[in-house]
Amino acid sequence: MDFTLKIWRQENANAKGSMQEYKVTDISSDMSFLEMLDVLNGQLVDQAQDVVSFDNDCREGVCGMCSLYINGEAHGPKKLVTTCQLYMRSFTDGQTIYIEPFRANAFPVIKDLVVDRSAFERIQQAGGYTSFNTGGAPYGNTLPIAKEVAAEAFDAAECIGCGACVATCKNASAMLFVSAKVSQFAMLPQGKIEAHQRVENMVAQMDAEGFGNCTNTGACEVECPKGISLENIARMNREYCSASLASE
Ligand code: SF4
Ligand code: FES
Repeated sequence: MDFTLKIWRQENANAKGSMQEYKVTDISSDMSFLEMLDVLNGQLVDQAQDVVSFDNDCREGVCGMCSLYINGEAHGPKKLVTTCQLYMRSFTDGQTIYIEPFRANAFPVIKDLVVDRSAFERIQQAGGYTSFNTGGAPYGNTLPIAKEVAAEAFDAAECIGCGACVATCKNASAMLFVSAKVSQFAMLPQGKIEAHQRVENMVAQMDAEGFGNCTNTGACEVECPKGISLENIARMNREYCSASLASE
């Protein structure tokens, strides 16, 4: 397969970026999107040109590092997959593909397609943990937790912190991410002890980082590669109300 790539190139955070055009040929339909970019970077090395910087790590859909906006969609055209799990057979031979970084004020561009998502880490550090000592695995298994509750908590815990929800939202809201992190603890006994403090601190940090508010467009849920549900946002709002009333 042959492709024309229009890629956002930006030297550093302060430089003015622009779209640059590249050609790649003889791409296997079974290559992943990132492998196709590896081929392009091999070509650029051979031509003594600066390679295209992009984030990646596991290439298995679990770390949340890959973060490209492809033809106007976070993680590209396929639903419920990350960029590293997107294969070139999802495109047509000869197609022009536009590749941009995730864009949001809270995710400044570092170089080319790499953005700084450390805001998510600071939100996690504000409360995305439990300090309750759960003991070893045998002790944990003695805590009776209903199957449906455990399954719902696990669904929320599937969030990989990729930031597609922010990049997709017209308000650059991080509510889906934060609500998944709040929910994964809020439903379990181990998470209830610090529940009020957790939601208040995480929401305060989210606001301090400059993310926008949620206006219920639902775009985040549509583009989330892990299928994180909007119900988590409703749960986080309830948790936040409850914490506010308790502190009053
Ligand atoms: S909620 Fe979905 S889109 Fe947002 S960070 Fe988590 S996995 Fe990524
Ligand atoms: S590189 Fe880890 S999720 Fe894509």
